[in-house]
Amino acid sequence: MYTITAGLVALSVISLTAAQQVVYGQCGGIGWTGPKTCVAGSVCTVSNPYYSQCLPGSAPPASSTKPPTTSKTSAQPPPPTTSNTPPPPPPSSSGFVKTSGQRFTLNGAKYTVAGTNAYWLAQNSNADIDKAFADIAAAGLTTVRTWGFNDVTSPQSFGAYYQLWSNGAATFNTGANGIQRFDAVVASAKAHGIRLIVSLTNNWSDYGGMDVYVAQLNPGGTHDTFYTNAKTIAAFKTYIKNFVGRYANEPTIFGWELANEPRCGGSNGTPSSACDVAGSTINTWAKTISAYIKSIDANHLVGLGDEGWFQLSSPPTYPYQANVGIDFTKNLAISTLDFGTFHSYPESWGQGNNETLWGVDWINSHAAQQKAQNKPVLMEEFGVTVNQPSTYTLWWNTVLSSGLAGDLIWQAGSQLSGGASPNDGYAVYPTGPVYPIQKSMAASLKARA
Ligand SMILES: *[C@@H]1O[C@H](CO)[C@@H](O)[C@H](O)[C@H]1NC(C)=O
Ligand SMILES: *[C@@H]1O[C@H](CO)[C@@H](O)[C@H](O)[C@H]1NC(C)=O
Repeated sequence: MYTITAGLVALSVISLTAAQQVVYGQCGGIGWTGPKTCVAGSVCTVSNPYYSQCLPGSAPPASSTKPPTTSKTSAQPPPPTTSNTPPPPPPSSSGFVKTSGQRFTLNGAKYTVAGTNAYWLAQNSNADIDKAFADIAAAGLTTVRTWGFNDVTSPQSFGAYYQLWSNGAATFNTGANGIQRFDAVVASAKAHGIRLIVSLTNNWSDYGGMDVYVAQLNPGGTHDTFYTNAKTIAAFKTYIKNFVGRYANEPTIFGWELANEPRCGGSNGTPSSACDVAGSTINTWAKTISAYIKSIDANHLVGLGDEGWFQLSSPPTYPYQANVGIDFTKNLAISTLDFGTFHSYPESWGQGNNETLWGVDWINSHAAQQKAQNKPVLMEEFGVTVNQPSTYTLWWNTVLSSGLAGDLIWQAGSQLSGGASPNDGYAVYPTGPVYPIQKSMAASLKARA
């Protein structure tokens, strides 16, 4: 997952001002019906045709009158990107996705999560982001899961990063190669009628993740101290305040996710003895962090982002037993988590000789918990590297028949300006055999009661 498409090279790390809520808020763009003027000290700035935003410090300070529209100051953004595809219909991004029993709702109607993953979106140009969302929307998908993190210890000269760490201190990157890249992801998603599930950190060291917090704030500590160390918890909350707070009123966000695949295990894969492999350590952390997200953003749903491992006393296979620190059943009961998550990678989990049927059972097991706890559950990552059309067809049919709330395949593929989007063996491209199946299954899921 390291493949990154070239992005912007300009570096500008600007400190976040203690802004009123409307600073950083949307102030224009196709389909926007909200406020079009900004509070004092900020100015409405065009990001692209679909998104203008109140940005601080970019108004000409010495002048009390607006500059004529024909003049450009150096602080103004480049002209909107153009795309070969015609502008999409106005987006219907109003209202927040909520839950009702085992289903998601939007403005009182059913909201179907037929989705895909594209972790790499923010690392790309606006045109490539638009291309990816256009492909995804053309398949009838509604929801995309992507990374809302990239922690670096030295400035990156391409793509986007959101936190720059140095000597135990993190700087939130509000610059053009920072959170503004994520603004572009949100704007394009909105323009294509797609909503976003956003993960806020990573168990894995790709794009920084938990291990950077630990190395910076608890040097020498094991991976799992991310969940328990007071400094790493405080730093993660600060990041959440900056990132989540920025989009708290943005309906394009479907929901936040605490982490991608949280586990006890560190870089050698072996959990420290301090982390409870039966699940209490991560359960406690999940309660703390999800409650914190709710305290600063009451609008959005929150999920954990785990792989959905069970803790059965008579486990039929490895992923049903205590070993990685996740107790799916217990975590689903956390009141500040609105939906459950699980992943399915039978080949990586020792089930490669029976992957299709094992996956069917895995879906049914989670759907049973969805029913038992009356809370929606998403299979939010899944993949096999062989027999994809037949395995996915059976799995999608199992999603439909089991009543599971929805699914997001790993992962979306598109032809971008620099070539194919990242392919780890699981990418699904519009010209490939899975795409038409994906499209018809998305339609079936929407049609399901
Ligand atoms: C969690 O992430 C680390 C990278 O930080 C990775 O090495 C480890 O394998 C992951 N844990 C497990 C048990 O997969
Ligand atoms: C394959 O998995 C299914 C579902 O868990 C199980 O019923 C079946 O016995 C397994 N078959 C083999 C050969 O392991």
